[in-house]
Amino acid sequence: MTPHPLLAVDELPAVEARLRTVGEVFRSFREQDSGCVSYGVQLPDGERWFVKEATTDAAQRSLERAWAFHRAVRHPAIVPQLHRIVVADSGRIAVVMPWREGELLYHPGARARFRALPVPRVLRALDRILDAHLAVEAAGQVAVDLYDGAFLYDFDRGDLHLIDLDEYRPGPFVLTDDRLPGSRRFMAPEERRRGAVIDIRTTVYVLCRAVRLLLDVGDGEDAWRGTAAQLAVVERGTRVDPGERYPGVRELVEAWRSAG
Ligand SMILES: Nc1ncnc2c1ncn2[C@@H]1O[C@H](COP(=O)(O)OP(=O)(O)OP(=O)(O)O)[C@@H](O)[C@H]1O
Ligand SMILES: [Mg+2]
Repeated sequence: MTPHPLLAVDELPAVEARLRTVGEVFRSFREQDSGCVSYGVQLPDGERWFVKEATTDAAQRSLERAWAFHRAVRHPAIVPQLHRIVVADSGRIAVVMPWREGELLYHPGARARFRALPVPRVLRALDRILDAHLAVEAAGQVAVDLYDGAFLYDFDRGDLHLIDLDEYRPGPFVLTDDRLPGSRRFMAPEERRRGAVIDIRTTVYVLCRAVRLLLDVGDGEDAWRGTAAQLAVVERGTRVDPGERYPGVRELVEAWRSAG
């Protein structure tokens, strides 16, 4: 058997040139805020892979953090970083992940289409997100920078995957900057307060924001598609004072599942 062209290499001079010799680069993502450049590559056996390469120091730190996260957390909904490769020309790293089909719910068109699905389909996707965060919690990690740019939804299969959880980290921790990275629509108030404790109740907040936004007809949050009991769960999870929220993801998920 020949060694796998991506999973069996530990070092390469340069990523893109090699990808073009071992397969077909069918997508590239070059202008990302993160400082990573990523490729979708299809190998001759038909398998598709996502290769994400750090091109700046900040991107390198973020991929190192992500590598540690993926060593600690495994869940079928979380697209794993399976392997990493040292890029000799830059001294940085690239990581190899399986390619997953789907559309990002960050894009307004995909989000609108998702919101028009039958409610049970939406609930199934939300349950996937929540279930994955039970694994995050069990590993002692907390969510940072979770937003709909992490939700990859496959409309044909009715399947949701989580990508780009690169800022997740062990918690609790104290916020030493002015704010964490993240989308205003999702972030908990303490994520914008220097000196605040960021813990699993911050994760509870962000998850409830995801539920609030995805189980609505539009972005205005005035057309909730769930029940009053479900809305009450979201409201408790998004209290300004972390002490008034569910104490953890498990308690949130229990409340959510019994409300449904
Ligand atoms: N495993 C995957 N399979 C298929 N597509 C993926 C996968 N992971 C990411 N993508 C796609 O590639 C894009 C870039 O990936 P990702 O968000 O991880 O990169 P990033 O450099 O962190 O970008 P950003 O700066 O926007 O956060 C995603 O928006 C998504 O469309
Ligand atoms: Mg990112």
